[in-house]
Amino acid sequence: MKKLIDQMTAQLEAAFAAAGYDTRYAKVTLSNRPDLCEYQCNGALSAAKEYHKAPAMIAKEVAEKCQGNPAFESVETAGPGFINIKLGASFLKDYLNEMAENEKLGVEECEKPETVLIDFGGANVAKPLHVGHLRSAIIGESVKRICRYKGNKVIGDVHLGDWGLQMGLIITELRVRQPDLVYFDESYEGEYPAKAPFTISELEEIYPCANAKSKEDEAFREEAKNATFELQNGRRGYLALWNHILNVSVTDLKRNYDNLNVTFDLWKKESDAQPYIPDMVKYLKDEGYAHISQGALVVDVAEPDDTKEIPPCMILKSDGATLYNTTDLATLVERRKLFDPDRIIYVVDKRQGLYFEQVFRCARKTKLVKDGIRLDFLGFGTMNGKDGKPFKTRDGGVMRLEHLMRDINEAVYVRMMENKTVSEEEARATSRVIGLAALKYGDLSNAAVKDYIFDVDRFTSFEGNTGPYIQYTIVRIQSILKKYEALPESERPASAIREACSKSERDLALQLCKFNEMMDSAYEELAPHKICSYIYELSDAFNSFYHEIRILAEEDTVKRAGYIALLRLTVRALETGIELLGFAAPERM
Ligand code: ARG
Repeated sequence: MKKLIDQMTAQLEAAFAAAGYDTRYAKVTLSNRPDLCEYQCNGALSAAKEYHKAPAMIAKEVAEKCQGNPAFESVETAGPGFINIKLGASFLKDYLNEMAENEKLGVEECEKPETVLIDFGGANVAKPLHVGHLRSAIIGESVKRICRYKGNKVIGDVHLGDWGLQMGLIITELRVRQPDLVYFDESYEGEYPAKAPFTISELEEIYPCANAKSKEDEAFREEAKNATFELQNGRRGYLALWNHILNVSVTDLKRNYDNLNVTFDLWKKESDAQPYIPDMVKYLKDEGYAHISQGALVVDVAEPDDTKEIPPCMILKSDGATLYNTTDLATLVERRKLFDPDRIIYVVDKRQGLYFEQVFRCARKTKLVKDGIRLDFLGFGTMNGKDGKPFKTRDGGVMRLEHLMRDINEAVYVRMMENKTVSEEEARATSRVIGLAALKYGDLSNAAVKDYIFDVDRFTSFEGNTGPYIQYTIVRIQSILKKYEALPESERPASAIREACSKSERDLALQLCKFNEMMDSAYEELAPHKICSYIYELSDAFNSFYHEIRILAEEDTVKRAGYIALLRLTVRALETGIELLGFAAPERM
């Protein structure tokens, strides 16, 4: 469906043309003085130069051509040459009714749908999921849904970190603790046990312990490095252990991501790219892209007009070891082969920005990726505590995601029990639905690149710019709709949305009709926070309407049915919004 603002522009183009002016001056924008008008056009000011005429004169002539056009309630000139526009009430209601009939509320799918791969989550195997990975999961999930809504073929890949030093550390620590395990016996040739020699809680304790040891104990660290090297070179017993670590860890990760309502189409991992490395390295050498610098194999990626120094992209260390870069480049090769994506979006901590710049440049320069592919780095900021420092537990440790969610749900539960509207049992279940909204909305309502302060009290509040407030508004509308549906059919005549007859109703209508425009910019800019602001303003507009107008008590049944149609559209816009953010509303709260 054509955006309202574009339809307005088309009307103004006709008026500019009729008055003898070029249509390129007819662009309509949202009013920046909502007290004076709803939309505006400032084109007369720029046209003045070309036509050597006073802008106010041009504005007046254009405005005259708009008189009598039902698309407008009024078109007035103001100041030096502004054109102030108010929409025609019947035009507005027609727009809303068309939107209501449209499956996607007027949002058009991309003309050329793309295969979009989203690299998000990025958890590291064997390390418990902590809040550092929370943002990637929450933002990535929403971006995935937004890209899909626009009609693209979208593939979400968790891209687990499973090939680094953490594996060597765990293997080495296990060896210290259980030296007799068959995995360490190099002469062993039989099958390895199917059951892991550790549980998830043991695993979670082993890693931090080994990590701490490696910082103090040089020999331990060397041994861990060596174990990593041996694993990566295919030592059987270590591969078997790695498999156990992976399985135990992935089971736990899946449970955690499920609780977050985050899903992946692919559970690929860094190790999956390893088979592509030898050929890739050979290619980079043979084609002359890579050269040796201080013993290491590198590709220069600096460009003449760089304003800051972009160091070369390292492919192999001087000892021949591969790096994070090598894996990411090989993953690009793998993705091209398996999925041939047109676009890849990486949702990663913004501190990895320079790193990805190197990887992207290297991939393009060496043609590891196809021409014209879009590689986007969607870098996000840090979630901080109230002290402005990265969020920690009370005793200063790394906060585990599970515990964070438990704390939020508890806060919501306490709030619900204060109101005492539902049973304890229902409050428990509902608090999980609300807690998730509090957490996700609290994150997504900020532009991703910004740091933000995690504030349980604010995030879980039922008022203000919060997830629970949006949910509350949805629950309120649904409950009105339910009461209405329960009325006898004879009292429910058919009616579409009618012309607004109060300011609050008109404000609600005006906010609703911006849905497709908002969605397109959320998609263009990969910006879930635009959805948040929109549904927040929509909720406010609805609640003002609700407080002013008696909906169910309206005696004119046709008028009442018109209100109901407006409510149905409102709740669809809100529900679509939260669905795209990755959470749902409860039945009651
Ligand atoms: N595992 C990485 C980390 O914890 C994030 C992975 C991001 N994705 C990628 N393709 N490098 O920092």
